[in-house]
Amino acid sequence: MKVLLVGGGAREHAIAEAIKRSGAELFAAMKNRNPGIARLSEKILLEHETETKKIAEFAKESGVDFAVIGPEAPLAEGIVDVLGGEGIPCVGPAKKLARIEASKEFMRNLMQKYKIPGSLEYAVFDDAGEASEFIDSYGKPIAVKPVGLTGGKGVKVIGDQLKDLEEAKKYVREVIEKKIGGDRVVIEEKAVGEEFTIQAFVDGSHVIAMPMVQDHKRAFEGDAGHNTGGMGSYSDSNGLLPFVTESDREYAVEVMKKTVDALRRETREEYKGILYGQFMLGKEPRLIEFNCRFGDPEAMNVLPILSSDFVKICQKIIDGTLKERDAVFEKKATVCKYVVPEGYGIGSRAGEIISVDEEAIRRKRALLYYAAVNEENGKICTTSSRSLAVVGTAGSIEEAEKIAESAIANITGEHIYHRRDIGTKALIQRKIESMKAVR
Ligand code: GLY
Repeated sequence: MKVLLVGGGAREHAIAEAIKRSGAELFAAMKNRNPGIARLSEKILLEHETETKKIAEFAKESGVDFAVIGPEAPLAEGIVDVLGGEGIPCVGPAKKLARIEASKEFMRNLMQKYKIPGSLEYAVFDDAGEASEFIDSYGKPIAVKPVGLTGGKGVKVIGDQLKDLEEAKKYVREVIEKKIGGDRVVIEEKAVGEEFTIQAFVDGSHVIAMPMVQDHKRAFEGDAGHNTGGMGSYSDSNGLLPFVTESDREYAVEVMKKTVDALRRETREEYKGILYGQFMLGKEPRLIEFNCRFGDPEAMNVLPILSSDFVKICQKIIDGTLKERDAVFEKKATVCKYVVPEGYGIGSRAGEIISVDEEAIRRKRALLYYAAVNEENGKICTTSSRSLAVVGTAGSIEEAEKIAESAIANITGEHIYHRRDIGTKALIQRKIESMKAVR
């Protein structure tokens, strides 16, 4: 079996490992030369992931049986349609269906049209004046979201990144004028509570949920600072999170199942791939956003504990024959911590050398995933994005955190950092307490 993997981050390194564990041959297309993925691959293509035609040529030359698409940008660009046109099936939705992530307007309209529970009040504008009038009259705290893709950094919320309504109106104008993620904005009611993620394998009609994960978007310890693509994440051995009940999980999975049905009815096409639901847990889960792919870092919490054969799951996604029993996870907790360059998210120090003692990390029983680094003359250098991630897996979150933290000490460099608090008892306790206050 030959599999093409598109994407070169730590998420894709985790996918690459899962593909190799299944015994398949790996071919990879990515922008930067990820040393972890390169090592596992028969052949790599260094190319921007949205260059769909060039990637399709590479896929044909390599004779791959199917492709797994990691990031959202090539999905939004229609890579699945292009590869499909060459007879190469994909784990990843077609362009029409990838709008569930690529257009927040499409997503909210779909939820409204098909009466899917768990949505938020919203309105969409392409005129800053009309948006400002709406903001003045709405009377409740809001979130301002560019309609299109912004790498997870475009959302701004009152009382958080936006001080008051005046700042919200200014940001709306900026989004529309500078075309940040398109020239339209979604104004949503502000959701309050604790966030959680559910990722699911979807074969067109069956939605098989993976263990829940909580990501940490803020750059600094104590959930302080600016938003990033995600500084680290954890999952628990029972598939839930310490502040989430089984009925919350069932509610959220139902929202995802209804969305997959609605997508089929709306587009007359089947969603095949990974669906990622990000929820805010208040009195009940409210859907914040859908992604049409694995989360990064969340993929690194679920794939290392997947005991089923990943390639067989992919084949069943493509064939539309996936069953609950096909995706079994070890009952283990996981903690993932990202090492990033100083300034990541606002102005990274790129080009700094990082030293990685892989052998010592292995001895600590931790997993290492390379992300956006360059390998030059045997040296690992930072780029502007996240550098590499370490994952601990164990019987409890506390033990997994200790493994990750002790392993990460074997990654050194002058201008890099990580959040030591992710997965610690103290931070989790704070989340439990904040949930009690909301409920
Ligand atoms: N962890 C957030 C994302 O993957 O978009």
